[in-house]
Amino acid sequence: MKLEKYKIFNKSCYGLQEIKNNSIDALITDPPYGISYQGNYWDKDLPNKGIWKNSFNVLKSGSFGLIFSSIRLMHHLMVDLEDSGFLIKDVLFWSYLNGMPKSRDIALDIDKELNVKSKIVGTYNYVQGYKKNSANNYYTANVKYKKEPKSELGKKYRGCGLSLKPAYEPIILIQKPVGKNLTVAQNVIKYGVGVLNIENTRIPFANDETEIGHNPHPKGRVPSNIIRTQYHCDGYDKFFLVPKVRQNAEDFNSHPTLKPIELMEHLVKLISFENQIILDPFSGSCSTGVASLKNRRKFIGYELDNKYYEICKKRMENIERELLSQLKFEVV
Ligand SMILES: C[S@@+](CC[C@H](N)C(=O)[O-])C[C@H]1O[C@@H](n2cnc3c(N)ncnc32)[C@H](O)[C@@H]1O
Repeated sequence: MKLEKYKIFNKSCYGLQEIKNNSIDALITDPPYGISYQGNYWDKDLPNKGIWKNSFNVLKSGSFGLIFSSIRLMHHLMVDLEDSGFLIKDVLFWSYLNGMPKSRDIALDIDKELNVKSKIVGTYNYVQGYKKNSANNYYTANVKYKKEPKSELGKKYRGCGLSLKPAYEPIILIQKPVGKNLTVAQNVIKYGVGVLNIENTRIPFANDETEIGHNPHPKGRVPSNIIRTQYHCDGYDKFFLVPKVRQNAEDFNSHPTLKPIELMEHLVKLISFENQIILDPFSGSCSTGVASLKNRRKFIGYELDNKYYEICKKRMENIERELLSQLKFEVV
């Protein structure tokens, strides 16, 4: 396939038939998590593990990959990745403070089980996620009752629940092993991949921070495996900071699991170099693609759902127009 800047396919990624073996420099993808997030049909199951073998085949030796995952099913995904030949190198945490636990008040369930009517002590407005009501642009709120347990056993278990507040999303860092009998340096010379792009993703020191370490790097700290959405009140900023995005931040983009471009840019810069090709088999609305073009990387994406594919196309055309003069890739 001749690739000038990018190519997005509106079809299933399974097989990756359009891509030549050993031609891709990095894999960055946010696949279905297999948890039926917000009831989305495409999130019912983890991807068929064949896609990871396909990805392994099209990647160059030594290439890195970053795969978003869910806390509950990341172990399955990691086994699938390992079974496909990848090395598991790390798990990055994108941590945030505003996650909400999907739990329930067991004390009220106990009342119900015992046929005791729980006490109504007030009402509150319940807002579902970030979803906008498209008709009037307001967030939809339902009025719900505040209740307290009434039975003695219910009172004993008051406030007990089933899950912790989710405060991070794991991103699995994988690598296709370097070529047979090659050192890392020999692999880089031969394929242009095999190392993390630390230099390009350093975390700058704070303005008022005194120099630390015996030989401080002018560009700042080595990027850590924690990325976060807001300050954690720790004085100096040792982590890359990237806030979450609201769904519909761009009014034409309704993808329910939209990732921030800034986060994707950090990941793109971490595991690839200019002019290289990034693959995202589960593109959604193409956040990986936009981040790739913004950082002068070429992009190949697949998106099965026609509605999301159209959003993808529009976002890529917009960013291409915006970056018109800067987007001249080396022809290799
Ligand atoms: C978690 S979303 C990716 C969202 C993306 N990170 C963004 O910022 O827009 C995963 C996407 O994979 C797509 N998908 C699921 N199975 C697929 C398949 N076999 N081939 C291609 N796309 C698929 C879904 O339609 C969904 O849009």
